[in-house]
Amino acid sequence: MIVLGIESSCDETGLALYDSHNGLIGHIVSSQHNIHAKYGGVVPELASRDHVLKLIPLLDTLLKRENIKLKDIDLIAFTNGPGLLGPLLIGASFAKSLAWSLGIKAIEIDHLEAHIFSAMISNTKLKPPFLSLLVSGGHTLLSVIKDNSNYKILGKSLDDSAGEVFDKVARQLGLSYPGGPKISMHAGKIQSSKFSFPRPMINSDCFNFSFSGLKTHVGLEIKKQKLSPKLVSEISFEFENAILDVLISKTLSAAQKYEIDNIVIVGGVSANKKLRKRFQKEKGSRNIFFPDISFSTDNGAMIAFMGYLKSSDSIENSLEIKPSPVSRFI
Ligand code: KG4
Ligand code: ZN
Repeated sequence: MIVLGIESSCDETGLALYDSHNGLIGHIVSSQHNIHAKYGGVVPELASRDHVLKLIPLLDTLLKRENIKLKDIDLIAFTNGPGLLGPLLIGASFAKSLAWSLGIKAIEIDHLEAHIFSAMISNTKLKPPFLSLLVSGGHTLLSVIKDNSNYKILGKSLDDSAGEVFDKVARQLGLSYPGGPKISMHAGKIQSSKFSFPRPMINSDCFNFSFSGLKTHVGLEIKKQKLSPKLVSEISFEFENAILDVLISKTLSAAQKYEIDNIVIVGGVSANKKLRKRFQKEKGSRNIFFPDISFSTDNGAMIAFMGYLKSSDSIENSLEIKPSPVSRFI
């Protein structure tokens, strides 16, 4: 069976083909970072317009590159939420009309679930149960994944997500959107910092997170400074460490409390090189799994793969377009 995956929840148009026997056939992503960079965040209407422009040419390119015909596709999986309403509507309309024209089913995929299972695309032996830390622009979520449809949420961000805080602090430092990779790049230039930022809720007896206080603290510090490249690096270094300390400490405590050996770290922030290195160093006897870096941030491969995992579920195949800006998963 060949599944076409379509991702359009935010500022990446991603498509992928997944073969139930041979795994991922190929994927293609068009990022809108250049469009949104000057605004410091994603402008929903501009995002919608770019998805409209990109979906058909990307599909054509992917099919040609992988030598697959439209008639070879057996199932379409598309992101139905959470995300920006306009971009979701465009992806859902495209997926449902294409499925209708081909006489096949279109299956709704929850973006958060797709991120969580993305680590299984390349780690082919990995199976639930595992502990999952999802750290993206929209969410920070710690959960126990018992099997493909049985989850227990341990904690989530009570305010800003980790990725959102990376983006907002970067903006205050004069760095363009998306801020995570830029903060990481500036932090990587030095080995220490004169700053000392709080590690919110690191010792709380729950598994929730809160990053907005850290964002405010760093913002106030930035206002006091006359920013130079060295100061940008020092603030980035300490800020990145503060976030990573909290994420790593809470995740490893949860693994210990619930006695789970396999830990999966997914979502855009899981592309962070220092986060990957530190988790591997500090994991003790546990196993840590990441998606390929290209599947940390939004992509169609995780949607196609989730479609494959859900392909045996009974699927409602209506033409009704009802994307959900919130997750059904949490
Ligand atoms: O998963 P994703 O592509 O989109 C959502 O579902 O939200 O995550 C995007 C987020 C952005 O906030 C971006 O700044 C962050 O992931 N990000 C990073 C890195 N690469 C992307 N954060 C820290 N370090 C990185 N290397
Ligand atoms: Zn995402």
